[in-house]
Amino acid sequence: MPTKKAVVSGKTAAPKVSARPFAYRNRGLHCDGVSMAALAEEHGTPLYVYSAGQIAQRFRFFDEAFAERAHTICYAVKANSSLAILRMLAKLGAGFDIVSGGELERVRRAHKPALGRVVFSGVGKQVWEIDAALEAGILLFNVESEAEVYLLAERAEALGRVARFALRVNPDVFAETHPYISTGLSEHKFGIDIKAARGIYRRAAKLKWLDAAGVSVHIGSQIRKVDPFAAALARVTSLIAELRRDGHDIRYVDAGGGLGIDYGVDALDEAGAFDAEHQVRKYAAALGKGLAGEGAHLLLEPGRFIVAQAGALLTRVLYVKKNGAKTFVITDAGMNDLIRPALYHAHHEIVPVKEPGAARRGEVDVVGPVCESGDFFARDREMSAVKPGELVALLDAGAYGMSQASNYNTRARAAEVLVDGDEVRLVRRRETMRDLMAQEIL
Ligand code: LLP
Repeated sequence: MPTKKAVVSGKTAAPKVSARPFAYRNRGLHCDGVSMAALAEEHGTPLYVYSAGQIAQRFRFFDEAFAERAHTICYAVKANSSLAILRMLAKLGAGFDIVSGGELERVRRAHKPALGRVVFSGVGKQVWEIDAALEAGILLFNVESEAEVYLLAERAEALGRVARFALRVNPDVFAETHPYISTGLSEHKFGIDIKAARGIYRRAAKLKWLDAAGVSVHIGSQIRKVDPFAAALARVTSLIAELRRDGHDIRYVDAGGGLGIDYGVDALDEAGAFDAEHQVRKYAAALGKGLAGEGAHLLLEPGRFIVAQAGALLTRVLYVKKNGAKTFVITDAGMNDLIRPALYHAHHEIVPVKEPGAARRGEVDVVGPVCESGDFFARDREMSAVKPGELVALLDAGAYGMSQASNYNTRARAAEVLVDGDEVRLVRRRETMRDLMAQEIL
């Protein structure tokens, strides 16, 4: 359960590197140097608040953990596709993992030179998306079916551009995570059966406009144990050896994304502090084990690990009501703003912005205003009492929060701010009624 200590870093000895950039100072929750209450005052709620410092720090942890081998960190745009965040990461040297023509356009607008560091994944690439990526000169297509191989060859020939590709193989490795975000078993729609891969590479080698440059794998998301990554890469490594013997010039190995974070309260408990740097080192060691000396350029596609803990969804309590034995805290953010609890029963810590002190605690459901029973952020959660008008923050909302937000119930999507030390930048304004109806024809 969240104790006062859980989000204090000013009063008790903070862990060496805090798992989250949110902490109480002067009795109020801050994101780095900025008061969350002041942010709500200035920008309204619901509001996504991100720490630029933490995003950069997580990126560096990754970069440093793999320093010994040639690598490119292709941040998974889907986790948080804010142009400001993409630009910041691009300037730190990041490449990008994209899954649509829309995400390609985001990379172009954020930082054009980064287009050469883009890998394009996804099971349903369309002709216009393939063409746009070929024209942009991306680094690698992660191809997910044999039919896609032939379509890619056709488009490459039509545009007169050689397409570098990797087959995304399905290693049939089990990774313990939510079934909706596990991808590495043969029963999933993702990738190509690893046993069929060699034959496809052989047939692809006959196609002049294709360059079989790599092999890729991605086994799922929010994976907390590193062994499945090692197992998947070991299978990929033996496939690479076979492919080389078959005469293919494999230069890239793409290990995908998926490294999980700690959404629990332990994340800020000093004893068991979630040590992101240590975690990513363990992950790097596991990948190294799987690669067993394989020297190809390593591509990584982390999303969540880089941005999740840097972000919070700031929301105001509208009402507190009792129904029978239950108490409902109704916030102005809803499932349209953050769907993870509704969709995956995901846990997000919820903390009051005003430091709770010795406030009464009780069990509540924290819910949004959307007309669905699934519109909840927490059920039967013990937390400090909050009153209407007060602010609460949903932590670890930087990944798959805003990027999965919708306009359901004709609700405008939240604004987003990027905090950099003491400075605040509005990086997406709140949608207006006009925005909401702009596409409609009467
Ligand atoms: N690469 C590929 C091919 C992917 O499909 C994904 C995520 C990633 C990389 C990044 O994975 P990450 O490092 O972020 O785990 N909406 C869900 C997560 C869906 C993940 C989809 N693919 C959630 O909110 O938990």
